Amino acid sequence: MWLNLRNVGAYLPEYKAIEDTVFEQFEAATGERTFKRDVGVLISSPNEHVHYHLDIPMVCLVHLRGQKTVYVYPCNEPFAPQPQVEGIALREQEEQLTFQSQFDKAAVELVMNPGDAVTWPQAAPHRVQNSDSLCVSLSCEFLTLPALIRANAIYTNGLLRRKLGLKPRLTDKIGLDQIAKAAIARASKLVNPPPKAAPAPIVFELDENTLELIELSPGALSALHAPA
Ligand SMILES: [Fe+2]
Repeated sequence: MWLNLRNVGAYLPEYKAIEDTVFEQFEAATGERTFKRDVGVLISSPNEHVHYHLDIPMVCLVHLRGQKTVYVYPCNEPFAPQPQVEGIALREQEEQLTFQSQFDKAAVELVMNPGDAVTWPQAAPHRVQNSDSLCVSLSCEFLTLPALIRANAIYTNGLLRRKLGLKPRLTDKIGLDQIAKAAIARASKLVNPPPKAAPAPIVFELDENTLELIELSPGALSALHAPA
C-alpha cells in the first residue's frame, strides 16, 4: 500500500498549522519565499519501495513514523538525462526515470527516523526504501522564485529540443538565459496550456464500509478533492 493524501491542509486545519510551521522555518533558514505549497500525508506499507524518479517542484520530506531510507542522486547526466527531465516538465511522461544499479555508488543515503526532515536540490533523482515498518511522512512540495524560473527553463528547453531539434543545456545558476527561457515558457503555456497532469494512473476510492476499492474516472477525482 502507498497512499499520498495530497493537500491535506485544505481539509484538516491541524495539518494547515503544521504546514505553516514547516514553511515558516524553511523561509527563515533560506531567506526564500515559498508558494504553490502542497503538503501530503504519505502512508506506506513495510518494505514498500518508491522507484527512481524526480519531482519538478522542490520537496521537503518530514518523517513521522517507522524507518525509511532515502537515496538521493546527482542532478546531472547520466542520472537525470535532460530529455527525460524535460519530458516530465512538459508532462509527456510520469516522473519515473531509467535506473541503473551502478548509480548507487553516487547516491547520498539517508536513513530517516521519526522527527527527521530532509530536502534536496530541485529535480534531483531519488528513490525510497521502507524498512520492515509502516511508514508515515509528510511530503511537502513547493516552489521558490529560483525554483519557478528553473522549472520553466526546463520546460522551454524541452520545447527547443522537440520543436527546433536543438540541444539546449540547463545552467546551474539562475542567470539571464534561464530568466528568458522562463518567460518563453510562461508565454507558451498561455498559448498552448500543457496537460493538467501526466497520463493519469487508475484512480480508486476506498469504500468506508466494505473497504473495497472502487475505480473512479479521472473526472470524478477532481469532484472528490474539491475543498468544502
Ligand atoms: Fe519524489
